[in-house]
Amino acid sequence: RQPWPGLIEQYRDYLPVSETTPVVTLLEGNTPLIPVPAIAQRIGRQVRVFVKYDGLNPTGSFKDRGMTMAISKAKEAGAKAVICASTGNTSAAAAAYARRGGMRAFVLIPDGYVALGKLAQALLYGAEVLAIKGNFDRALEIVREMAQSYPVTLVNSVNPYRLEGQKTAAFEIVDVLGNTPDWLCIPVGNAGNITAYWMGFCQYHQIGKCDRLPRMMGFQAAGAAPLVKGEPIPHPETLATAIRIGNPASWEKAVAVKSASMGNFHSVTDDEILEAYRLLASEEGIFCEPASAASVAGLLQVKDQVPTGATVVCVLTGNGLKDPDTAIKHSNSQFKQGIESEVHAVAAAMGF
Ligand code: F0G
Repeated sequence: RQPWPGLIEQYRDYLPVSETTPVVTLLEGNTPLIPVPAIAQRIGRQVRVFVKYDGLNPTGSFKDRGMTMAISKAKEAGAKAVICASTGNTSAAAAAYARRGGMRAFVLIPDGYVALGKLAQALLYGAEVLAIKGNFDRALEIVREMAQSYPVTLVNSVNPYRLEGQKTAAFEIVDVLGNTPDWLCIPVGNAGNITAYWMGFCQYHQIGKCDRLPRMMGFQAAGAAPLVKGEPIPHPETLATAIRIGNPASWEKAVAVKSASMGNFHSVTDDEILEAYRLLASEEGIFCEPASAASVAGLLQVKDQVPTGATVVCVLTGNGLKDPDTAIKHSNSQFKQGIESEVHAVAAAMGF
């Protein structure tokens, strides 16, 4: 068996790269499509449910797919520095790939609203981290402006190469299932990823790799659901900080995906997110971050609409280790501390 060469090499024929593009890769992609029977059972009919666990990418999120492309193309163009706004994952991926490609990485984050693991990554990978007194939407406005006047390449998902890389997740799903799923459930923040998946499914459909297209079901956190409300949210709030976004950059594209796929947008409350987050971990053994659990929370919310016999894929965008604080604060597990270091004391604490 050939080792996995990274997604640019694997899907080179479908990506805007040439033989001279310097490929900056950490061998991202090829993430598992895992059956989740406990979730399928809750839907209560004959359905197959899988999660696309993109938290197993090199920096722990789907952003690596976009970043291998964006950074390779930036390097090809001779960039010396890149910049992004981020709720955390983009900054970690930008930092890792930029540094690997020998570039500086500037990242703007909303002060106090980035999960601990993501901040740790950006710092250790060697990014220059700038926390602003404002939210993600404001940070994105600033970096868009800066990329026009300063020698820095923007690597947010408004950079088209990001979406090109991210569309490969759809290829991988079709390659494994042999066709498209009936439904694709996905968390939506800045709305780049839902756009990228649709690009991937459409491209594969055009070349005959699948014979149909999925319904694209996008889920936003209730306190940060501009696409559901149909208007920007000036002060988005949710415990799922990765998708704490009030004015998505790919708004129109996501709306077009919704109509073309006969899909829908729904909002899920933080409580629904937490319930799905705990369920995935405690019954399926899969630790994702809260924003990722929005896809499963959403599926469970609209479960009565899933056709019998359907195949559903929920995208788990990020690894649970990104946000240890939320895991510790919201687990339902018992954590008994201060037990005497004696067998009888441990046995007593176990209830024997
Ligand atoms: N899930 C996770 C874990 C994310 O980090 C993001 C976005 C999304 C879902 C939403 O994807 O923006 O393409 O709709 N995170 C960005 C960041 C905003 O800065 O890391 P989207």
